[in-house]
Amino acid sequence: MNFLDEIKNLKEQIKSKDKFDINFNFDNIVISGMGGSGIVGNIFQEYYTSIPVISIGDYGIPGFVNEKTLFIVVSYSGNTEETLSNVEDAKKKGAHVRAITSGGKLATIVEKSIIIPSGIQPRSALGYMLMPLFNTFAPIDDAIVSQTYGILDDMDKNHSDIKSEAFKIYENSSIPIIYGSKPFKSVAYRWKTQFNENAKTFAFYSYFPELNHNDTMPLKSAYRRDEYLFYAFESDNARINQRIGITEEITGEQFTVVKSPSQDYFSKLFYLIHYADYLTYELALVRNVDPTDVSTIEELKKKLA
Ligand code: PA5
Repeated sequence: MNFLDEIKNLKEQIKSKDKFDINFNFDNIVISGMGGSGIVGNIFQEYYTSIPVISIGDYGIPGFVNEKTLFIVVSYSGNTEETLSNVEDAKKKGAHVRAITSGGKLATIVEKSIIIPSGIQPRSALGYMLMPLFNTFAPIDDAIVSQTYGILDDMDKNHSDIKSEAFKIYENSSIPIIYGSKPFKSVAYRWKTQFNENAKTFAFYSYFPELNHNDTMPLKSAYRRDEYLFYAFESDNARINQRIGITEEITGEQFTVVKSPSQDYFSKLFYLIHYADYLTYELALVRNVDPTDVSTIEELKKKLA
């Protein structure tokens, strides 16, 4: 599958019915993963608030992990060092360990794994890796999944406006800064990582209302301020939208406000994710870099092995 087909495959992935079979009690969920796999835990942690959910992307596990913890490990390759080390630590603490992976060592050390299709970029498998969490803990209505499918399909058929934006970023050599807000702060971070890995550009992110207590200063008076291009996600919280407007007004900075065609959480989540897939893919093409190339990351992993 070429990278464009991988992007277009997202709408099929959200139809996945994979889920965990959980027949024991647990007090909290810890989700472990790095990079394109780690974002899965970040998104779910921000959405699911019925019990404590912690997303980690690091060596070491939280001190509270015990036999009442459901410890879910997400690694597309199944061979990521930090994630594998978390499995050993979680097992030692008696946690219930489950995995989402396409294979690798992880599939051999965690018995009850959900095995997803292999052969694509980890960051292109977001739907496959995220849906088991929704399906198990917070199932999405079929009608909403169909609606979301339609929204993604429309973007697959025509994203000429996003392509023009990518060209604008390229022409002005802009550094993107993405401002999210709850429950899409993690998606602002996903945009940053997609700029990094697909387009090979730096990008930065923050979120409302926190950025009104720091970023607001350079927004008005930063050195070489015209080198940055700002995105803000429209919110369904009126107060956040007011903050976006007032921030623009008092700093004189214009944000590109990204508006989803649907306010429903699930549709909006995948609309925002897909928007960045295309923006960063088109930026890679216009910059003449290969969006699939992660050779420097691979080289680093090899040197550490
Ligand atoms: O998108 C990528 O290729 C990376 O960010 C990987 O996801 C990251 O290095 C972790 O690897 P894996 O997803 O196989 O655990």
